[in-house]
Amino acid sequence: MGKPVILTGLRTNAEYHLGNYLGGILPMVRMQQEHAGVYQVNMFAPDLHSFTTEVDHDTLYTQTMKNIAVFVAAGMPIDSQDFYLYRQSFIPAHSELTVILNNFAYFGELSRMTQFKDKSEGKSNVTAGLFDYPVLMAADILLYGASYIPVGDDQKQHLELTRDLAIRLNNKFGDIFIVPKDWKHQLQFSKRLEGARIRSLRNPSQKMSKSVSDPTGTILLTDTPEAAAKKVKSAETDSVGKINWDWNNQPGITNLLQIYELLTSNSHKEVLAEWTGRELYGDLKVAVAEQVSAFLSEFQSNLSKVDKNSLQKKLEASELEMANQANITLAKVQKAVGLRP
Ligand code: ADP
Ligand code: TRP
Repeated sequence: MGKPVILTGLRTNAEYHLGNYLGGILPMVRMQQEHAGVYQVNMFAPDLHSFTTEVDHDTLYTQTMKNIAVFVAAGMPIDSQDFYLYRQSFIPAHSELTVILNNFAYFGELSRMTQFKDKSEGKSNVTAGLFDYPVLMAADILLYGASYIPVGDDQKQHLELTRDLAIRLNNKFGDIFIVPKDWKHQLQFSKRLEGARIRSLRNPSQKMSKSVSDPTGTILLTDTPEAAAKKVKSAETDSVGKINWDWNNQPGITNLLQIYELLTSNSHKEVLAEWTGRELYGDLKVAVAEQVSAFLSEFQSNLSKVDKNSLQKKLEASELEMANQANITLAKVQKAVGLRP
């Protein structure tokens, strides 16, 4: 057996925003800093997932490559031997395993996925791709036997479905899959009390999302530091008059506290001690705006330095190696289900 695996992916259908960074990218950067050497770290572009929602097919490839450069600018170490960076569609085993897993995933459980319900609501033509999204995600994870999957709170249900599928097939066929750790252990591993869920600055009852057109509520990683600071300063809050960590009654303020906590890497306790009970919302906004603009300046400077040639080489080398790993799992499954002798 090789090293245990930490794995994540972020759809590449559009520019990334602060929610993607804090929910998916930053935890991955921190985990790899902490665990490199002991764990294999896989970060990939789920390009086949990228068109489960509307996308411009003419620019998808360029967008994918741009988003992969973001991973590197954010701190993923292109030179590390334990780090693999790849594009899902370049490794055909992802699609093949999905077709097999489809026969073990139930219509009922897929219909219950909140992301499916949200993203299909009000649409006249809901695609099979959107419906099947979590099964492809399960294949992404199970092919490499990943244990830890740093993702935002919105992906919790998909992770649980992945576990259910792995356990279901293991019960039927013997131990073919490594079952990813449950949510509680995922949080423990990332030293978090709850999953990150960054809300729209305009409408804090909704998540910050690139799939929703909400330009003033969303901070894109391409926003200038000044523009981003402005968005933070005009964030929607409440009329309670005191700062509290309270998602139900003060989601706007809690969102700002959460952004502050994640960007400063202060502990939850420290953030509460610093801010709870204070009355000037403006102070919190200024502090968050400073953190956000400092982060963006540094990130954007790193992004301009990412070398395209090294990136291309890293992708090709990783894709070769990961195709080998993935094919080993796929062959096991093909044998188990009776497709191979
Ligand atoms: P979107 O909803 O913007 O299309 P994706 O579904 O591509 O984003 O999500 C990519 C990654 O970013 C996932 O790990 C997801 O959990 C995380 N993520 C997306 N939006 C948020 C958010 N508002 N808060 C925290 N994490 C988020
Ligand atoms: N579903 C994730 C998102 O919305 C992307 C994704 C696809 C993913 N496959 C994955 C995340 C496997 C973690 C592991 O962005």
